[in-house]
Amino acid sequence: MNIKVLTDYEEMSICTAEFIIDFVQKKPDSLLCLAGGHTPLKTFDFLVEAVNKVQVDFSRCKFVSLDEWVGVGISVKGSCQETLNSSLFDRISIPKEHICFFNGLAENVEAECKRIDDFIKTNGKIDLIMLGIGLNGHLGFNEPNINPNLYSHVVELDDVTKEVSSKYFEEPVSTEKGISLGLKHIVDSDTIVLIADGVKKAEILKQTVEGEKTNKVPSSLLQDQPNVHLFLDKEAASLLEG
Ligand code: F6R
Repeated sequence: MNIKVLTDYEEMSICTAEFIIDFVQKKPDSLLCLAGGHTPLKTFDFLVEAVNKVQVDFSRCKFVSLDEWVGVGISVKGSCQETLNSSLFDRISIPKEHICFFNGLAENVEAECKRIDDFIKTNGKIDLIMLGIGLNGHLGFNEPNINPNLYSHVVELDDVTKEVSSKYFEEPVSTEKGISLGLKHIVDSDTIVLIADGVKKAEILKQTVEGEKTNKVPSSLLQDQPNVHLFLDKEAASLLEG
Protein backbone atom coordinates (compact mmCIF):
# COMPACT_ATOMS: atom_id res chain seq x y z
CA MET A 1 0.00 0.00 0.00
CA ASN A 2 1.28 3.46 -0.85
CA ILE A 3 -0.04 6.00 1.62
CA LYS A 4 -0.14 9.72 1.09
CA VAL A 5 -1.36 11.95 3.90
CA LEU A 6 -2.62 15.38 2.84
CA THR A 7 -3.46 18.41 4.94
CA ASP A 8 -7.20 18.43 4.44
CA TYR A 9 -10.12 17.35 2.22
CA GLU A 10 -9.24 19.95 -0.42
CA GLU A 11 -5.62 18.79 -0.70
CA MET A 12 -6.67 15.13 -0.67
CA SER A 13 -9.08 15.84 -3.52
CA ILE A 14 -6.50 17.76 -5.58
CA CYS A 15 -3.92 15.03 -5.13
CA THR A 16 -6.41 12.30 -6.10
CA ALA A 17 -7.54 14.25 -9.15
CA GLU A 18 -3.92 14.82 -10.22
CA PHE A 19 -3.22 11.10 -9.90
CA ILE A 20 -6.23 10.25 -12.09
CA ILE A 21 -5.36 12.95 -14.63
CA ASP A 22 -1.80 11.69 -14.91
CA PHE A 23 -3.08 8.14 -15.33
CA VAL A 24 -5.51 9.10 -18.10
CA GLN A 25 -2.91 11.23 -19.88
CA LYS A 26 -0.75 8.09 -20.08
CA LYS A 27 -3.65 5.80 -21.06
CA PRO A 28 -6.41 7.89 -22.65
CA ASP A 29 -8.61 4.86 -23.43
CA SER A 30 -8.66 3.60 -19.82
CA LEU A 31 -11.55 1.69 -18.30
CA LEU A 32 -12.28 3.61 -15.11
CA CYS A 33 -14.46 2.76 -12.13
CA LEU A 34 -15.22 5.66 -9.80
CA ALA A 35 -17.10 5.38 -6.52
CA GLY A 36 -20.15 7.44 -5.71
CA GLY A 37 -20.72 8.59 -2.14
CA HIS A 38 -19.59 11.89 -0.71
CA THR A 39 -15.80 11.53 -0.46
CA PRO A 40 -15.06 11.84 -4.22
CA LEU A 41 -17.24 14.90 -4.86
CA LYS A 42 -14.44 17.46 -4.67
CA THR A 43 -12.12 15.19 -6.67
CA PHE A 44 -14.78 15.27 -9.38
CA ASP A 45 -14.84 19.09 -9.22
CA PHE A 46 -11.09 19.16 -9.87
CA LEU A 47 -11.43 16.66 -12.72
CA VAL A 48 -14.09 18.87 -14.33
CA GLU A 49 -11.84 21.90 -13.89
CA ALA A 50 -8.96 20.06 -15.57
CA VAL A 51 -11.19 19.08 -18.50
CA ASN A 52 -12.30 22.71 -18.90
CA LYS A 53 -8.66 23.81 -18.93
CA VAL A 54 -7.96 21.11 -21.56
CA GLN A 55 -5.44 19.42 -19.28
CA VAL A 56 -7.10 16.03 -19.70
CA ASP A 57 -9.58 14.39 -22.03
CA PHE A 58 -11.86 11.61 -20.80
CA SER A 59 -13.73 11.20 -24.09
CA ARG A 60 -11.94 7.95 -24.98
CA CYS A 61 -12.28 6.49 -21.46
CA LYS A 62 -14.98 4.03 -20.56
CA PHE A 63 -16.67 3.96 -17.18
CA VAL A 64 -18.12 1.04 -15.29
CA SER A 65 -20.28 1.26 -12.23
CA LEU A 66 -18.97 0.28 -8.81
CA ASP A 67 -22.30 -0.35 -7.12
CA GLU A 68 -25.94 0.62 -6.75
CA TRP A 69 -28.74 0.34 -4.23
CA VAL A 70 -31.17 -2.39 -5.33
CA GLY A 71 -34.60 -0.90 -5.98
CA VAL A 72 -33.25 2.61 -6.45
CA GLY A 73 -33.40 4.04 -9.96
CA ILE A 74 -31.28 6.61 -11.73
CA SER A 75 -33.97 9.27 -11.24
CA VAL A 76 -33.51 9.14 -7.48
CA LYS A 77 -31.19 11.87 -6.24
CA GLY A 78 -28.55 10.07 -4.20
CA SER A 79 -28.44 6.88 -6.25
CA CYS A 80 -24.90 6.00 -7.28
CA GLN A 81 -25.53 6.63 -10.96
CA GLU A 82 -27.31 9.94 -10.35
CA THR A 83 -24.37 11.02 -8.17
CA LEU A 84 -21.84 10.21 -10.89
CA ASN A 85 -24.00 11.81 -13.60
CA SER A 86 -24.59 15.07 -11.78
CA SER A 87 -21.13 15.44 -10.27
CA LEU A 88 -19.06 14.26 -13.23
CA PHE A 89 -20.44 12.76 -16.45
CA ASP A 90 -22.98 15.49 -17.26
CA ARG A 91 -20.33 18.14 -16.66
CA ILE A 92 -17.72 16.68 -19.03
CA SER A 93 -19.95 15.25 -21.77
CA ILE A 94 -19.04 11.57 -21.71
CA PRO A 95 -20.66 9.66 -24.59
CA LYS A 96 -23.52 7.55 -23.15
CA GLU A 97 -22.20 4.40 -24.81
CA HIS A 98 -18.98 4.73 -22.80
CA ILE A 99 -20.84 4.38 -19.51
CA CYS A 100 -22.04 1.01 -18.22
CA PHE A 101 -23.80 1.23 -14.88
CA PHE A 102 -25.80 -1.17 -12.73
CA ASN A 103 -29.52 -0.56 -13.07
CA GLY A 104 -30.84 -0.68 -9.51
CA LEU A 105 -34.32 -1.38 -10.90
CA ALA A 106 -33.29 -4.41 -13.00
CA GLU A 107 -35.82 -7.23 -12.54
CA ASN A 108 -33.26 -9.92 -13.24
CA VAL A 109 -30.36 -9.00 -10.98
CA GLU A 110 -28.32 -12.04 -12.00
CA ALA A 111 -28.50 -10.95 -15.64
CA GLU A 112 -27.58 -7.43 -14.54
CA CYS A 113 -24.45 -8.75 -12.79
CA LYS A 114 -23.54 -10.71 -15.94
CA ARG A 115 -24.05 -7.62 -18.12
CA ILE A 116 -21.55 -5.66 -16.02
CA ASP A 117 -19.05 -8.54 -15.80
CA ASP A 118 -19.24 -8.96 -19.59
CA PHE A 119 -18.65 -5.25 -20.15
CA ILE A 120 -15.47 -5.42 -18.06
CA LYS A 121 -14.31 -8.60 -19.83
CA THR A 122 -14.95 -7.04 -23.24
CA ASN A 123 -12.78 -4.10 -22.27
CA GLY A 124 -10.01 -6.26 -20.78
CA LYS A 125 -9.87 -5.21 -17.16
CA ILE A 126 -10.40 -2.13 -15.03
CA ASP A 127 -7.37 0.12 -15.43
CA LEU A 128 -8.07 2.36 -12.47
CA ILE A 129 -10.63 1.98 -9.71
CA MET A 130 -11.20 4.79 -7.22
CA LEU A 131 -12.88 3.71 -4.00
CA GLY A 132 -14.25 5.33 -0.90
CA ILE A 133 -14.37 3.36 2.33
CA GLY A 134 -17.34 2.62 4.56
CA LEU A 135 -17.18 2.98 8.33
CA ASN A 136 -17.28 -0.84 8.39
CA GLY A 137 -14.46 -1.19 5.85
CA HIS A 138 -16.71 -1.93 2.91
CA LEU A 139 -15.42 -1.27 -0.59
CA GLY A 140 -18.23 -0.69 -3.04
CA PHE A 141 -20.83 -2.92 -1.40
CA ASN A 142 -18.36 -5.62 -0.48
CA GLU A 143 -19.58 -5.81 3.07
CA PRO A 144 -17.95 -7.37 6.18
CA ASN A 145 -17.53 -11.18 5.81
CA ILE A 146 -17.49 -10.92 2.02
CA ASN A 147 -16.38 -13.86 -0.09
CA PRO A 148 -13.26 -12.37 -1.72
CA ASN A 149 -13.64 -14.49 -4.86
CA LEU A 150 -16.85 -12.90 -6.09
CA TYR A 151 -17.30 -10.80 -9.20
CA SER A 152 -20.55 -8.79 -9.55
CA HIS A 153 -23.14 -9.88 -7.04
CA VAL A 154 -26.17 -8.87 -5.04
CA VAL A 155 -25.63 -8.42 -1.33
CA GLU A 156 -27.66 -7.95 1.85
CA LEU A 157 -26.30 -4.69 3.18
CA ASP A 158 -24.62 -4.49 6.56
CA ASP A 159 -26.42 -2.61 9.37
CA VAL A 160 -23.76 0.12 9.39
CA THR A 161 -24.20 0.67 5.63
CA LYS A 162 -28.00 0.87 6.01
CA GLU A 163 -27.71 3.32 8.86
CA VAL A 164 -25.33 5.61 6.97
CA SER A 165 -27.37 5.42 3.75
CA SER A 166 -29.89 8.05 4.80
CA LYS A 167 -27.27 10.78 4.33
CA TYR A 168 -27.47 10.30 0.55
CA PHE A 169 -31.22 10.57 0.05
CA GLU A 170 -33.71 13.40 0.36
CA GLU A 171 -36.58 10.93 0.79
CA PRO A 172 -36.59 7.58 2.58
CA VAL A 173 -35.69 4.67 0.29
CA SER A 174 -35.20 1.00 1.04
CA THR A 175 -31.50 0.18 1.29
CA GLU A 176 -31.71 -3.48 2.26
CA LYS A 177 -29.72 -4.76 -0.69
CA GLY A 178 -26.97 -3.60 -2.99
CA ILE A 179 -25.56 -4.74 -6.30
CA SER A 180 -21.81 -4.39 -6.56
CA LEU A 181 -18.62 -5.25 -8.35
CA GLY A 182 -16.91 -7.98 -6.37
CA LEU A 183 -13.67 -7.83 -4.46
CA LYS A 184 -12.18 -9.95 -7.23
CA HIS A 185 -12.83 -7.12 -9.69
CA ILE A 186 -11.19 -4.70 -7.28
CA VAL A 187 -8.02 -6.71 -6.70
CA ASP A 188 -7.78 -7.56 -10.41
CA SER A 189 -7.76 -3.85 -11.29
CA ASP A 190 -4.50 -2.49 -12.56
CA THR A 191 -4.41 0.47 -10.14
CA ILE A 192 -6.47 0.91 -6.98
CA VAL A 193 -7.02 4.31 -5.41
CA LEU A 194 -8.65 4.51 -1.98
CA ILE A 195 -9.60 7.90 -0.59
CA ALA A 196 -10.85 8.97 2.83
CA ASP A 197 -11.20 12.10 4.87
CA GLY A 198 -12.37 13.09 8.32
CA VAL A 199 -11.84 11.79 11.82
CA LYS A 200 -14.84 9.46 11.51
CA LYS A 201 -12.81 7.31 9.10
CA ALA A 202 -9.68 7.18 11.32
CA GLU A 203 -10.53 3.96 13.18
CA ILE A 204 -11.43 1.98 10.05
CA LEU A 205 -8.28 3.26 8.32
CA LYS A 206 -6.22 1.96 11.23
CA GLN A 207 -7.86 -1.46 10.89
CA THR A 208 -7.41 -1.33 7.12
CA VAL A 209 -3.71 -0.54 7.17
CA GLU A 210 -2.44 -1.95 10.47
CA GLY A 211 -5.08 -4.43 11.59
CA GLU A 212 -5.53 -8.11 10.89
CA LYS A 213 -6.04 -8.98 7.23
CA THR A 214 -9.53 -10.40 7.35
CA ASN A 215 -12.70 -10.46 5.29
CA LYS A 216 -14.45 -9.06 8.39
CA VAL A 217 -12.82 -5.79 7.30
CA PRO A 218 -12.92 -6.00 3.48
CA SER A 219 -10.57 -3.04 3.02
CA SER A 220 -7.83 -4.86 4.99
CA LEU A 221 -7.66 -7.41 2.17
CA LEU A 222 -5.86 -4.78 0.09
CA GLN A 223 -2.95 -4.63 2.55
CA ASP A 224 -0.36 -6.58 0.54
CA GLN A 225 -1.19 -5.08 -2.83
CA PRO A 226 1.59 -2.84 -4.18
CA ASN A 227 -0.79 -1.22 -6.67
CA VAL A 228 -2.95 0.36 -3.93
CA HIS A 229 -2.68 4.12 -3.42
CA LEU A 230 -4.29 5.63 -0.33
CA PHE A 231 -4.97 9.36 -0.30
CA LEU A 232 -5.99 10.43 3.19
CA ASP A 233 -6.43 13.70 4.91
CA LYS A 234 -4.67 14.22 8.26
CA GLU A 235 -7.77 13.41 10.27
CA ALA A 236 -8.44 10.10 8.53
CA ALA A 237 -4.79 9.17 9.00
CA SER A 238 -4.65 10.37 12.61
CA LEU A 239 -4.57 6.89 14.21
CA LEU A 240 -1.95 5.41 11.88
CA GLU A 241 1.37 4.69 13.54
CA GLY A 242 3.70 4.91 10.55
C1 F6R B 1 -20.34 4.39 -3.12
C2 F6R B 1 -19.62 3.27 -2.50
C3 F6R B 1 -19.35 3.21 -1.05
C4 F6R B 1 -18.73 4.49 -0.52
C5 F6R B 1 -18.42 4.40 0.96
C6 F6R B 1 -17.94 5.73 1.50
O1 F6R B 1 -20.48 4.16 -4.51
O2 F6R B 1 -19.23 2.37 -3.19
O3 F6R B 1 -18.52 2.10 -0.78
O4 F6R B 1 -17.55 4.75 -1.24
O5 F6R B 1 -19.54 4.01 1.66
O6 F6R B 1 -18.96 6.66 1.37
P1 F6R B 1 -18.73 8.22 1.63
O7 F6R B 1 -17.75 8.66 0.61
O8 F6R B 1 -20.07 8.86 1.43
O9 F6R B 1 -18.18 8.32 3.00
